[in-house]
Amino acid sequence: MDLGLRGRVALVTGSSRGIGAAIAAGLAVEGCRVALCARGAEDLATTAGRIREGGADALAVPADLTALDEAERVVRETIAHYGGLDILVNNLGGGRGGDDDAAWAYTLDVNLGVAVRASRAAIPAMRAQGRGAILLIASVSGWQAGGAPAYNAAKAAEIMYARSLAKDLAPDGIRVNAVSPGSILFPGGGWERRQRRDPERIARFLAEDLPLGRFGTPEEVANVVVFLASDRASLVTGANIAVDGCQLKPSV
Ligand SMILES: NC(=O)c1ccc[n+]([C@@H]2O[C@H](COP(=O)([O-])OP(=O)(O)OC[C@H]3O[C@@H](n4cnc5c(N)ncnc54)[C@H](OP(=O)(O)O)[C@@H]3O)[C@@H](O)[C@H]2O)c1
Repeated sequence: MDLGLRGRVALVTGSSRGIGAAIAAGLAVEGCRVALCARGAEDLATTAGRIREGGADALAVPADLTALDEAERVVRETIAHYGGLDILVNNLGGGRGGDDDAAWAYTLDVNLGVAVRASRAAIPAMRAQGRGAILLIASVSGWQAGGAPAYNAAKAAEIMYARSLAKDLAPDGIRVNAVSPGSILFPGGGWERRQRRDPERIARFLAEDLPLGRFGTPEEVANVVVFLASDRASLVTGANIAVDGCQLKPSV
């Protein structure tokens, strides 16, 4: 299936590794010109370099997106470099353990706040060209309890933000969707660390709570995101798509 993404410009936040890197690579394979962003400049350059080796354009913009105005700057630099912006994937997320005010403020900001600021910066360019696709990488934690409450609340908020924005931006030809992964394993990721720490507990989790009996891969999430970013998904907006293998519990 030709997704019609050739030449489209896509920015993926938090994209030097894991799900974000797989999304950037997946969009690039379909012909998108991609912009990547993370704090660590070296890993970011490596990931962007790998995409370029595959024959696609990749711009690396190092930034700490939780710093004020940085999301806006990254969007601005992407538009200045490529001359437009068609796809924004708000992938950055995560959390800090604990239940104190600092943990809540950080977790709400890194998941929701950064996505709001990046989307706000991207919308005028998308509106001007009469089309765009915004994606939010949420989580099954957005509707199933388990793990840190601040993370659950932040992911639920991302899902509702996608729905609200989709309604407001439909007349402008901009689609907005949330994609909610289950537990995704990759080198350097959180699940790899937990598996190394407590392999027996994780083996039980896989057997009891993940009906497929395994973790997901970043590429399995990316495949869905790439489709949703394309015009092939023209009637899909305001949706929250689970990519979770029917996962029964978000965490262990
Ligand atoms: N992995 C899972 O099982 C899972 C499940 C459900 C949902 N999700 C969601 O999927 C998304 C991606 O998760 P992941 O596990 O792939 O993430 P990850 O391993 O935490 O990777 C995050 C990426 O974001 C960058 N990053 C972190 N803090 C940043 C900041 N302040 N500014 C800019 N870049 C930053 C990291 O690079 P630097 O450290 O160099 O900045 C890295 O490239 C998140 O929204 C997460 O909540 C993940």
